Amino acid sequence: MYSGETIVILDYGSQYTQLIARRIRELNVYTEIFPWDVSPERLEALEISGFILSGGPNSVYDVQAPKLPEFVLTSDAPVLGICYGMHLLAHFLGGEVSLGTTHEYGSAELDVLATDEGGLFAGLSSPLAVWMSHGDFVKTLPGGFIALAQSHNGILAAMGDPGRKIYGLQFHPEVAHTLQGQEILHHFLFDICNCQGNWRPAIFIDQAVAQIRSQVGAQGVVCGLSGGVDSAVTAALVHRAIGDQLTCIFVDTGLLRQDEGAQVEATFHQALGVRLISVDASEQFMSALAGVTDPEAKRRIIGEQFIRVFEEQAAALSGINFLAQGTIYPDVIESAGSSTSHRIKSHHNVGGLPEQMSLDLVEPLRDLFKDEVRAVGEALGLPSELVWRHPFPGPGLAVRILGDITPERVATLQAADVIFLDELRQAGLYNQVAQAFAVLLPVRTVGVMGDARTYAEVIVLRAVTTDDFMTADWAHLPYAVLARASNRIVNTVPGVNRVAYDISSKPPATIEWE
Ligand code: XMP
Repeated sequence: MYSGETIVILDYGSQYTQLIARRIRELNVYTEIFPWDVSPERLEALEISGFILSGGPNSVYDVQAPKLPEFVLTSDAPVLGICYGMHLLAHFLGGEVSLGTTHEYGSAELDVLATDEGGLFAGLSSPLAVWMSHGDFVKTLPGGFIALAQSHNGILAAMGDPGRKIYGLQFHPEVAHTLQGQEILHHFLFDICNCQGNWRPAIFIDQAVAQIRSQVGAQGVVCGLSGGVDSAVTAALVHRAIGDQLTCIFVDTGLLRQDEGAQVEATFHQALGVRLISVDASEQFMSALAGVTDPEAKRRIIGEQFIRVFEEQAAALSGINFLAQGTIYPDVIESAGSSTSHRIKSHHNVGGLPEQMSLDLVEPLRDLFKDEVRAVGEALGLPSELVWRHPFPGPGLAVRILGDITPERVATLQAADVIFLDELRQAGLYNQVAQAFAVLLPVRTVGVMGDARTYAEVIVLRAVTTDDFMTADWAHLPYAVLARASNRIVNTVPGVNRVAYDISSKPPATIEWE
């Protein structure tokens, strides 16, 4: 846990809660999300500079409506209620909330009524373009509050009690459609909460190193490396803290990108001097997956095989009591997610093994977002090719080979994938897309090569842009780049006679094909 100025976000179920946290961290202020009914004891160790109450789907009049905890008002820290958060403040402080007929969002324009120095809207001029919630709204202000902004159809859009430093917004400052939302949050953090904005990777690293040392003492830690950013940064951080007490295990599943094993070896063992065990388990994985085509069955089998390999390796090492995992904040938030949300895919992490191995977890990145993890990786001196690599799923190429997985089909996909990524790099586009890869389909199609008929495999290229991987758009890559990749793949990868480009966004598709 970070010790330093912290904004506490109380989550009332808004789809944007995580976005509020991101926006605040972007302003170099540390923040954490807690459920609205968190016990005050859990917050005791924090240096709280302010509270933000998120929006949420409820109405304050619902029988089971989530409440405003007493500690929010008895603490001296400033409070910003967003949407439902604003309604709660009004309701509990003696104002009146009117029931809306819908619960929708939409763009709206506001008239700003108060632009005083030191206030939320200081220096902003009307009209203000915002992402407005058209649900319940505050009809009567609570005592001590003034109206700060009003929508063109007369709805109260913002209220504040500058004396008590309590504010409410009917709209969402955290979403991009609220054009000056970041300025409003900036005013709240720096002018109202008096934050200093000291949250930086270097500070994080010092604190994390101290925490890892005190957690682990003189005992041993294992860490699974997957070739991805999160496990790499975890390993580098734990290594900085405890040196040779860390042993990394890299499992070659036979389902990795081309040359992945050599790269992990070169970075961790040769460059950073990390103690590394590389296990070639490709035959074991291949034979367990033989004939399996169902996506969820593939994931389950891969998870089990990882456990086997880890168990064997851990049994051979002595004095190991901890497992370091690259869990990051979105993983924590998503796994704590709503009980009503559907399981789309069982995401499998290399490290999902603690119960079977009875090891305690070391998860130094669990409070960080991906971009912060990358900043920490760079500050730790990891090579930028590694830090800026696209994410790669735990089950590896297994979820990109539709149908049967065989060593031959893995080789086909690896060869096509490497060509696509090479073309993106040459065009300077690799870092402009969030993730790009090739997929091998379970069908064959007819083609002609030279004068001969072919009946061969199809490769699909997929490239997406996204900030958070929860939603994504297909990347509008230049035709010339797609044309070069397609030519090279068809001409040099044996057994492939056709290449297609995936133009689906998420939703309704997902990023991976399985
Ligand atoms: P989807 O396909 O769900 O993917 O849109 C979102 C992001 O998650 C990655 N992904 C996984 N990562 N284990 C992982 O560690 C998995 O089982 C898994 N499945 C998908 C995917 O590559 C994308 O970045």
